[in-house]
Amino acid sequence: MPTPSPADPATRLPGNILVIGACGQLGLELTAALRQLYEPRCVVAADVRPPKDEHLLHDGPFELLDVLDRTRLDKLLRQYRPRQVYHLAALLSATAEKNPLFGWQLNMDGLLNVLEAAVAHGIGQVYWPSSIAVFGPDTPREHTPQLTIMNPNTVYGISKLAGEQWCEWYHRKHGLDVRSLRYPGLIGYKSLPGGGTTDYAVDIYHKAVAGQPYECFLEAGTYLPMMYMPDALQATLDVMHAPAERIKIRTSYNLGAMSFAPEEVAASIQRHRPDFQISYAPDQRQAIANSWPASIDDTAARQDWGWQPQFDLDRMTDDMLLHLGK
Ligand code: SER
Repeated sequence: MPTPSPADPATRLPGNILVIGACGQLGLELTAALRQLYEPRCVVAADVRPPKDEHLLHDGPFELLDVLDRTRLDKLLRQYRPRQVYHLAALLSATAEKNPLFGWQLNMDGLLNVLEAAVAHGIGQVYWPSSIAVFGPDTPREHTPQLTIMNPNTVYGISKLAGEQWCEWYHRKHGLDVRSLRYPGLIGYKSLPGGGTTDYAVDIYHKAVAGQPYECFLEAGTYLPMMYMPDALQATLDVMHAPAERIKIRTSYNLGAMSFAPEEVAASIQRHRPDFQISYAPDQRQAIANSWPASIDDTAARQDWGWQPQFDLDRMTDDMLLHLGK
């Protein structure tokens, strides 16, 4: 589908949605979900690089956008006048540890550009993802509460915690309707994560369907909160569709679904593929994982806007192997 020109009345409808970071693990699937839900030409995908995914490019408009380029962002907001902006572009935990200054710049300045532009252009709603990485080694690890000691010790986590406070500030000072979720590790078969500490839980399924053993970069017994992508998409759409008065937390909501360790994923896979083997070679990502919660208390999300996950580990494994096997 050709990108609508600014003269196209369709781009002037109040119904447009802009997804920034649409080529990423979440962006790819969220854009597709939004295009299923709404008129595809009203869902504008944007990323700093051209998409490899055919659908992203052809099912609706695609625009190149470096979110650090405020001029270009303003131009797209003038052109499409979106009522919602999903700002997903960021460096994940492991990559940001390797590029700390760029990680901070992209994660922080990118968010501030979007928040400032949203106020300037009167954007109805902004979505921005936070993460379990806002917690740190001093945080209670089991059933980590919504409000607790944070003290993140990764660049990614520090940027997410600061970002949450900025979201709350823009809501309070400017009335901006910005909403956010603290995602656990996200697992899906359609897209690959890039540079996260929870990536092993995606990689392992790819090895399993290739008939290969998996060497895990986290050690056995490393429990982390995780979530299957359909649940993450549902949560994202639910929090954005909830009436504003139901959104009582304007930093970011804890969001839980399941918690498991690598050997439990392996066991879940072995129900289908008894020969599947896992071994362990922990690297620098182990320290990051050790600083994060093992499980999450998401009572506030359940109470405020009815969050209810659908997938546990075995159900996710069944679905992952089914789709990756095709
Ligand atoms: N999945 C992310 C990471 O591992 C956490 O938000 O960096």
